[in-house]
Amino acid sequence: MSGPPSRESRFPFADRPRLWGVAVSHYQVEGNDSCDWTAWEASGKTRGGPCGGAAGSWEQYESDADLAASAGSNAFRFSISWSRVEPRPGEWNDDALDRYARFVEHLVARGIEPVVTLFHYTHPTWFHERTPWTSPASVDRFRKFAAMVARRLGDSVRAYTIFNEPLVFVLAGFLDGQIPPGLADSRAAAKALDHIFAAHAAAAAEIRAMNPTAAIGIAHNMMSFAPDRWWNPLDRLVARVGDRFYNASVFEAMITGEWSLWLPPAIRFRGKRPELAGSLDFAGVNFYSRLHLRCPGHERLLGDYRYDDRTGIGLTDNGWEIVPDVLPRLLRIAGATNLPVVVTENGLADGDDRLRARFLREHVAAIRDARRLGTDVHGYFHWSLVDNYEWLDGFEPRFGLFAVDQATMARRARPSSALFRDLGHAFLRGE
Ligand code: FCB
Repeated sequence: MSGPPSRESRFPFADRPRLWGVAVSHYQVEGNDSCDWTAWEASGKTRGGPCGGAAGSWEQYESDADLAASAGSNAFRFSISWSRVEPRPGEWNDDALDRYARFVEHLVARGIEPVVTLFHYTHPTWFHERTPWTSPASVDRFRKFAAMVARRLGDSVRAYTIFNEPLVFVLAGFLDGQIPPGLADSRAAAKALDHIFAAHAAAAAEIRAMNPTAAIGIAHNMMSFAPDRWWNPLDRLVARVGDRFYNASVFEAMITGEWSLWLPPAIRFRGKRPELAGSLDFAGVNFYSRLHLRCPGHERLLGDYRYDDRTGIGLTDNGWEIVPDVLPRLLRIAGATNLPVVVTENGLADGDDRLRARFLREHVAAIRDARRLGTDVHGYFHWSLVDNYEWLDGFEPRFGLFAVDQATMARRARPSSALFRDLGHAFLRGE
């Protein structure tokens, strides 16, 4: 992969070379946001029931920011609800924009860097009918939304992760039919990916036109893929193909403006968008776990995949393996972009706080290893600040450093939040 064009990188910031903080997303914490996902829940397509009031953050964003500060954060990643901001096509809701602007001002006043995501899975209810991602019109719609947000938030926001996990969204929404718009059509998926890439580039251009020093990122989900049977050549082959398909291709597209993602037998996404090259200032990585692949599979020809506790640390509450050792390798793939790397999400469902302290310690140590091995890591965001609504699983998985009482929306610190603060202090000192 060739590096970015030779302009001065806007990131890391000279006055704040490292970011340490928490990540949330609008739908998962705000509550009462009517959008495509609300309809999806109502039609029974999730396992976990409705999102309802979520974690009540629309009312308590400011005190959430204070909690984050008390837990040692100098940065806070959150997302903007497109459905609140543009409830009908071309109709902008100033109250919603003002609400986000007030929150941003609060963060800045507290010395916390806002990191803003513009797309975190949900859409206004009109979007899929009027300008779906399979249509070129989607690009302009998203561009206008990005421009409106960037104009309202102005210079106070210096970092954007425009899209959260675009590949996960395309796979789950256009191939697996698990999330809105609920399609299972590989040609639609290929088109959607192309338009999302174009929308990223268009949004980046709008943000930079408004605020030339803003740093543009993406939050790309990375997974480790392992052969279920280490000695089996087919298992090893699918693990390699899965890794290439899932981990490296999105960053390559962002750097070169070209992509070719291949997952036999049926998936082939290829394309070219020259405007993507140079559209990133940092490479954001969401990292959670590892999948063990077996080929041929019982369920799919290409292979079955599952989580399994091979490290012996114990599975998280939602059954994910905890595997910090693979993180340096994944961060190296992100670092091959020649961009600074930020861990934009990392965390676990652990209601009793049995495993979170160890999880934190070992992932932060893995980041230190990655840096020692030459990857330029400049930030870490824990998912999440508070227990929140988990897309398909509702409120059962508890990812929060702070527990939320669903009846009162009161927050209570989990013991590991003290360790999070101490690790943050050391990270910010450059240790
Ligand atoms: C990530 C998503 C985030 C949350 C965590 C657990 O993939 O970006 O919204 O659901 O997983």
